[in-house]
Amino acid sequence: MSDNVTPLHKLRIFKEQIGIDAADLAELAPFRHFFTERKEEFGDYFYNVFWGIPATRTILEGEKTRGVLRKTWSLWFETFFSADFDDTFLSWLWKIGVRHVEVNLDQRFSNLGFAVIRQFCHGIVFKELPLQQRGRVLSIIDKLLDLCVLVETSAYIENTISCNIEVMREMADRVRNPAMIIGWNIKRLHDKADADSKEYRVYKMLMEENERLEGMVRDIKVYMDLFETEPEIDTVNFEEIINEVLLKLKEEGTGKGIQAEISTHKEGILLKGDKEELTYLFYYLVQNSMEAAEPDNMRVVIKSGLDPDSPSYVRIEIFNTGEPPKEKTEQLFSPFFSTKVKGTGFGLPIAQVVVRKHLGRLDIKPMSGQGTNVIVSLPRATL
Ligand code: HEM
Repeated sequence: MSDNVTPLHKLRIFKEQIGIDAADLAELAPFRHFFTERKEEFGDYFYNVFWGIPATRTILEGEKTRGVLRKTWSLWFETFFSADFDDTFLSWLWKIGVRHVEVNLDQRFSNLGFAVIRQFCHGIVFKELPLQQRGRVLSIIDKLLDLCVLVETSAYIENTISCNIEVMREMADRVRNPAMIIGWNIKRLHDKADADSKEYRVYKMLMEENERLEGMVRDIKVYMDLFETEPEIDTVNFEEIINEVLLKLKEEGTGKGIQAEISTHKEGILLKGDKEELTYLFYYLVQNSMEAAEPDNMRVVIKSGLDPDSPSYVRIEIFNTGEPPKEKTEQLFSPFFSTKVKGTGFGLPIAQVVVRKHLGRLDIKPMSGQGTNVIVSLPRATL
C-alpha cells in the first residue's frame, strides 16, 4: 500500500482551489513563532484528547515506546508552521495519510484530530495576536488546515479503494483457472452423455452456471481495470464503435433473433473519449438491452444525435421492448445486482464507470407500455 505514488497533480489542484499562495505564507510568517514555540504544549494537548477516547487510547497504549506519537505530533505542528506548502510538504502529508490507513486509524478520528488542531490554533490567535491581525491569520490557518484534511481524505479514499480493487482482482484471477478446468471437464461429460438422460440435463445446467461464473470473472476484471486506468481521450466515431459491438455480440450469439435498428445523426457522431472504454460501454449497454427485450417483440433501437439539453454533448438512446426494471436506478448500477438469470451483475456498473470517467450522464427511462430506454450523454468531439 505504501508504494502508492503520491497523486501530486491532484494535491496541487486542491491547494490552488483553496487559494493558498506565497502571499498567505508571507503574511503568516511574522506570527509563526507564537505557534512553533508551543509545539510541546500542542503535543501534550493532542495526546490528552486522544488518551481520553477509549478507541484511540488503545492505540496509544499499544505504542512500542510510550510517547513517540506525542513527539511526532509536536514535530508535525512545528513543521506545519514552518513549511512552504510545496510539493515535498504535500507528499509528506500524503504519506502520513497512507500511514494512518495502514495502522487502521478510523478516518473519523483523523478528522477529529484536525478539528482539535484548529481549536488549539484559534486559542493561540485569540490569546496572543493583536486584534487587527486575528481575522487574516485565522483565515490563512483555516485554509492550510483545510488542505491537510483534503490530502488526508484523499489518502484514505485512494488507499481504501485500491486495497478493495486488489482483493477483487486477486479473487477474479484465482477463480478463473478452476472455473475453466471445471467447465472443460463438465463439457466432456456432457458431450459423452446420452441426450435423453438425467445426467445430460444436469451437465447442461452445470455448464450454464459455469459460463455465468466465467462471465462474472471476466466482467469483474474489466470493472477493476476501468477503475485503475486513466482514459486516453481521442476523437471516436460512434458508428464505427456500434458496428463493432453489434458484430461481436452476434459472434457471441447474444440476442439471437433480435432486430437491431440503428439511426444515427445525418452528419455522423463524433465522441470525445477513450475508444476502448467507449466500446466497453456500448457493448454492455447493447448486450443488456438485447437480453432485456421482450421475447415476442425482439427489438432494440439505437438512436444518436446532438443532446438537446447541452450542445457540447451527444445523446445516444438504446431502446428495448422489455418491461422497465422495477428497481431504483442506483440499485441497477450496483455491482453484483442482476435481475436476469444469466446476468453477471456487472454490465450496468461497468457502463456507469465509463460514463463517469468521460464526464457524461447515464439514465434508464421507462417508456410506458412500450419498453425501456437507456439514455447516454457524452462529450462531443468537433473536427
Ligand atoms: C489529525 C491529525 C494527525 C496528524 C497531523 C498526525 C500525524 C502523524 C505523523 C506525522 C505520523 C508519522 C508518519 C510517518 O512518518 O510514518 C503519524 C503516524 C501515526 N499516527 Fe497520526 N496524526 C494525526 C492523528 C492521529 C490520531 C488521532 C491517531 C490515533 C490516536 C494517530 C495515530 C497514528 C499512528 C498509530 C501512527 C503510526 C505510528 C508508527 O509508525 O508507529 N494519528 N501521525
